[in-house]
Amino acid sequence: MSTPIIIDCDPGHDDAIAILLALASPEVQVLGITTVGGNSDLENTTRNALTVLEVAERTDVPVAAGCDHPLVRPLQVADHVHGKSGMDGPRLDPPTTRPVDAHAVDFIAETIAASTEPVTLVPTGPLTNIALLLRHFPDVKENIGRLVLMGGAIGLGNRTPAAEFNIWADPEAASIVFESGLDVTMVGLDVTHQALMGREHGERLRPTGRCGAFVADLLDFFVQFHERVYGLDASPIHDAVAVADVIWPDLMEADRFHVAVETDSDLTLGRTVVDRWRVTGREPNARVGLAIDGREFGERVVERISRLP
Ligand code: RIB
Ligand code: CA
Repeated sequence: MSTPIIIDCDPGHDDAIAILLALASPEVQVLGITTVGGNSDLENTTRNALTVLEVAERTDVPVAAGCDHPLVRPLQVADHVHGKSGMDGPRLDPPTTRPVDAHAVDFIAETIAASTEPVTLVPTGPLTNIALLLRHFPDVKENIGRLVLMGGAIGLGNRTPAAEFNIWADPEAASIVFESGLDVTMVGLDVTHQALMGREHGERLRPTGRCGAFVADLLDFFVQFHERVYGLDASPIHDAVAVADVIWPDLMEADRFHVAVETDSDLTLGRTVVDRWRVTGREPNARVGLAIDGREFGERVVERISRLP
């Protein structure tokens, strides 16, 4: 039985790999890709999502553009990580396809309402679209199965010492999601920094087809940032871990804790405060990733991407 999913993303090198992993995996059915401003502006993230689907020869999957800025803050992009285009590295013609006319929030609401099975949402960027969905279409919660988001951290942040980028970019939206009562899984940096892929994976993928070569080019560019900042020779493929948790629920070790989001402090804005030792007495509101077998993750991603054209 294939799980229907919608990926809400800001491609983004790791978002692109997450989309391809989903397209290559029979365990999930991609009902649509929605985009949000984050790693780059909305025009770039939407163009990049269209590009990924064209590379994979899956232009049957609809793309809907969403919010171009956070709920109450200005957009601050991560071009220092992903480049000016949001997906620097691969050299591809601009996409010839276009997004649907509907706004992402309306598209998600309509798609969930029309689904005969509960839909799993997989947000891999700032949570602006998802927060607005919950605010404007509260009834959709009845047909949302899980919400598996890439974001946050039990430990150190990456955009600031305290906060991970997706949560930091729109902390008010993230707080709405964690307080929604949905079956939320948080795939944070503690796990994604164990899920590393690098040039070695890319060179295995390059001869497997157009998608393999595309991912190899993505990795070649993405690794440069992580070499410079973390001294790594590989990159955490953050967003693909969220998709992997839907495909292979036993791959990531996780447990339930209460998670709150800092929305006031300048110093720790966007921090996910995870009650790891259950000292607050607050009821757990999320399943939080703790660990993953990074080698196994990498092997499974290579095997699946190799199946694509
Ligand atoms: O902090 C990592 C997250 O921020 C990933 O989703 C990456 O694509 C960026 O959006
Ligand atoms: Ca992302």
